[in-house]
Amino acid sequence: MSPSPSVLPQDLANTLNDNAERYQQDLIEWLKIPSISSDSRRRDEVHQAADWLMKKMQAAGLKTELIPTDGFPLIYAETPAPEQTGDSPTPVALVYGHYDVQPPEPLELWTTPPFEPAVRDGKVYARGATDDKGQVLTHVLAVCEWLQSEKPLPMQVKFLIEGEEEVGSLNLEAHLPKLADKLACDVVVVSDSSQYAVGRPAITCGLRGIATYELEVQGPSCDLHSGSFGGAVVNPAMALCQLMSSMMDSEGGIAIKGLYDDVQSIPKVEREAWKLLGSDDKSFAESVGATALGGEPGFTTDERRWARPSLDINGLTSGHQGEGVKTVLPAKALAKFSFRLVPGQDPKKVTTLVRDHLMEHCPVGVTLELKPDHGASAMLADANSPYTQAASRAIEEAFGVAPVMTREGGSIPILATFQEALKCDVLLLGWGQNDDGAHSPNEKFSLEDFHRGIHASAALWQTMVG
Ligand code: BES
Ligand code: MN
Repeated sequence: MSPSPSVLPQDLANTLNDNAERYQQDLIEWLKIPSISSDSRRRDEVHQAADWLMKKMQAAGLKTELIPTDGFPLIYAETPAPEQTGDSPTPVALVYGHYDVQPPEPLELWTTPPFEPAVRDGKVYARGATDDKGQVLTHVLAVCEWLQSEKPLPMQVKFLIEGEEEVGSLNLEAHLPKLADKLACDVVVVSDSSQYAVGRPAITCGLRGIATYELEVQGPSCDLHSGSFGGAVVNPAMALCQLMSSMMDSEGGIAIKGLYDDVQSIPKVEREAWKLLGSDDKSFAESVGATALGGEPGFTTDERRWARPSLDINGLTSGHQGEGVKTVLPAKALAKFSFRLVPGQDPKKVTTLVRDHLMEHCPVGVTLELKPDHGASAMLADANSPYTQAASRAIEEAFGVAPVMTREGGSIPILATFQEALKCDVLLLGWGQNDDGAHSPNEKFSLEDFHRGIHASAALWQTMVG
């Protein structure tokens, strides 16, 4: 059987094939800019990364605008709207993504430096390769090439690429009411997630929400000799450990009163479909280097990762961290922790429950301070929308196989707000892989997936109009 013909005009299909090398060079250039949004020493570089993308889009004929915020700027761009010929107007899509990246530390674990992109074994290694520069660039390049080709781009594509996704998107959130008209669209397209496995592209139909906290436990007014005072003065580090473990039950569930009250159960059709994906705990554990997996009883690994709440300690600090022994009773202890939330849960309500729980369990002799950081609700996308069907066809053309329907456990804070404010659908088309090392050392992105992503994006603007 011969493969079905491409939905792309021939000249565009040829361009995409002939210019793979140039696209890689573009990606490498962008990845060299250390746009770490959480690091105040990298402010200039974050701006540079925004400018780099602006110029790329401008050169291809997109109308672009750099929108200043109290933090890093938003990049807005749009293609000309096509002439409306038929009865039903063509849809408008908004591509959302981010040009900021996570800090690269610990540096000693990188095989090659995080901001000196290196290609090994068909993959580009650099911070931001998969999260999210490599994925954002697939859409930018696809749209730029459409604008240079003989046929007009069949629908209008807008872009909103921000520089603070990795720190919670607060400034975008604040700007959104003012931008709602500009951003008006039928569907938001996001590539900032993953395929299900190698050779198994996916459309992600939901993401978890998030609620993050810092907890400080204070004890004596300064560090004390643990010989003179240990056993008589309450140890804040110990109290912090007790508090943290009081939030989990011995089975792997969360032990905070009321936390599961609003949790929506997973629809049966999704549970059944996910079981057919054939995930295997043993190889999953091996893939992360763990001896076994663990979590809430009664749920599979994919259910736990995608559609059940979870609680993680993200960092713990107290007492002596240096070499050797120092017998000290620390004056304070600090934990950073976060919940992943599922549909039904409200991050503000979670904060109330967490605060009540900690107050109730706080040992005598120490005091605590809980600082909530950012919160965002979970989101669900419509697996049966015409946009999902169009994306399915575009992905099948580019990847040679139809996508599976999944959810994922990470969070893209602004998406639930987009759905509400713009009354639009959301299409999550992840070109990455679960083992790409997002937020970890040796982050990578497969160049083959990068090129397929460009092709799928180009095809999508055609399949969406029929
Ligand atoms: N690309 C991720 C979101 C993601 C992760 C989607 C895994 C699907 C699977 C995004 O850039 C991210 O890391 N978001 C943060 C948001 C937080 C800092 C508010 C996250 O999920 O931790
Ligand atoms: Mn990301």
